[in-house]
Amino acid sequence: MEKIIDEHKQGETLVTEHKNENGRKLFIESYGCQMNFSDSEIVASILAKEGFNTTQQLEEADLVLVNTCSIRDKAEQTVRKRLEKYNSVKRINPGMKVGVLGCMAERLKSKFLDEEKIVDLVVGPDAYKDLPNLIAEVDEGRNAVNVILSKEETYGDISPVRLQSNGVTAFVSITRGCDNMCTFCVVPFTRGRERSRDPQSILEEVQELWDKGFKEVTLLGQNVDSYLWYGGGLKKDFKNASEMQKATSVDFAKLLDMVAIAQPKMRIRFSTSNPQDMHESVLHAIAKHRNICSYIHLPVQSGSTRILKEMNRQHTREEYMALIDKVREIIPDCAISQDMITGFPTETEEDHQDTLSLMEYVKYDFGFMFAYSERPGTLAARKMEDDIPEDVKKHRLNEIINMQQKHSKYRTEQFLGKTVEVLIEKESKRSNKHWAGRNSQNTMTVFPKGDYKVGDFVMVKINECTSATLIGEAVGYSDNN
Ligand code: SAH
Ligand code: F3S
Repeated sequence: MEKIIDEHKQGETLVTEHKNENGRKLFIESYGCQMNFSDSEIVASILAKEGFNTTQQLEEADLVLVNTCSIRDKAEQTVRKRLEKYNSVKRINPGMKVGVLGCMAERLKSKFLDEEKIVDLVVGPDAYKDLPNLIAEVDEGRNAVNVILSKEETYGDISPVRLQSNGVTAFVSITRGCDNMCTFCVVPFTRGRERSRDPQSILEEVQELWDKGFKEVTLLGQNVDSYLWYGGGLKKDFKNASEMQKATSVDFAKLLDMVAIAQPKMRIRFSTSNPQDMHESVLHAIAKHRNICSYIHLPVQSGSTRILKEMNRQHTREEYMALIDKVREIIPDCAISQDMITGFPTETEEDHQDTLSLMEYVKYDFGFMFAYSERPGTLAARKMEDDIPEDVKKHRLNEIINMQQKHSKYRTEQFLGKTVEVLIEKESKRSNKHWAGRNSQNTMTVFPKGDYKVGDFVMVKINECTSATLIGEAVGYSDNN
């Protein structure tokens, strides 16, 4: 199961290829969404040129960077605990410098330098190319901050380092920022306005990955369906583009087409989709290309039209259901997953029942469910009281998690007796005699290793399942090899 915020990955340190000429040691730790992990690969790539090798030993680091997340209060608290830990190490290794990257850097800006005396460097998500200058400042004993959000920066020209990965699946960032202004969400404030990356640089990166042996890419953005390239610039300024720019613009459906055609053997996924921007053309692109996976992560957040309106989601419950019907009609074998928030301000028991009945309608394959956490600066924080008691939020959260569990089981059971194509990613966590990989629908599948190897596409007959995993046996290579 691919998670938006993958709990197993939280705090993972990145290790890249050792360069002998590099003498300084970088410890870089990442929290939050996949975009942050992807950004850390860009940061490591920039710093490799500045004389840094990565280390997993905090105590020996010259520079410690933490890529932070602001999405919920809990995420920020986790990072604060890590900063305390760095502080204790700094007492033993006083030469060590500490930098905060990402969403918390943007949200708290110079507060970090004033309040948390251990921080030397604060760098927002659009300022990573300025790191060499900022580090030079820090080397001279000054603190350094750059949290300026950019209209253009997409890091399209930086080739991220991926050596920590399984060598089979990779994330490719296609948009940055978000313009949607959902009232609960800090992303538009921490990551700025939405901009898309040049399709040529996306195609080049995917080609490079293919050349290195990668077999699957996930195109990443806060709202991929909103992707729009017209020569650069903000999505919101498209209306001012020239006729020529408009005529030659590339939207998400077109981008999917381009990537799928350029790399016919590469598996393609994408995340995250937003119901208001997901057009039928995207569904047709998925249906048309065999190498685009039958899986859509389609967060809804609530099943109540009233709450959706309060959240500033631009669709009703009925419109969302109609979109689900379209998905089922155009891509019959498509898996769908959700993000859901319980206990948004003013949510009544009736609203909550609407969420449960929507879930019953869709029967999501999996989902990521959260209790509402008020985020400073958001519209909801400014205009609405966080009025649902914690125990009610928790109770509702438990109900939706239990329902999701039931639906996940129902969905995995539909694969029993069927044969599915699996891309082998790694050894199973539970057994070194089994491989693990995902099918097109993104469900984790394990099976005895046989003579197969990581990176092979294998046909697997499914004999058993849990609510999250398919268990089967390989019956041969897929014709995609
Ligand atoms: N479009 C983004 C969504 C970012 S946030 C993406 O690419 O994933 C991921 C999820 O966190 C949201 O879909 C939402 O369900 C949850 N979330 C965001 N803000 C939240 C808040 N204030 N409280 C609880 N959950 C929140
Ligand atoms: Fe956040 Fe809504 Fe954008 S959840 S990332 S403001 S689509």
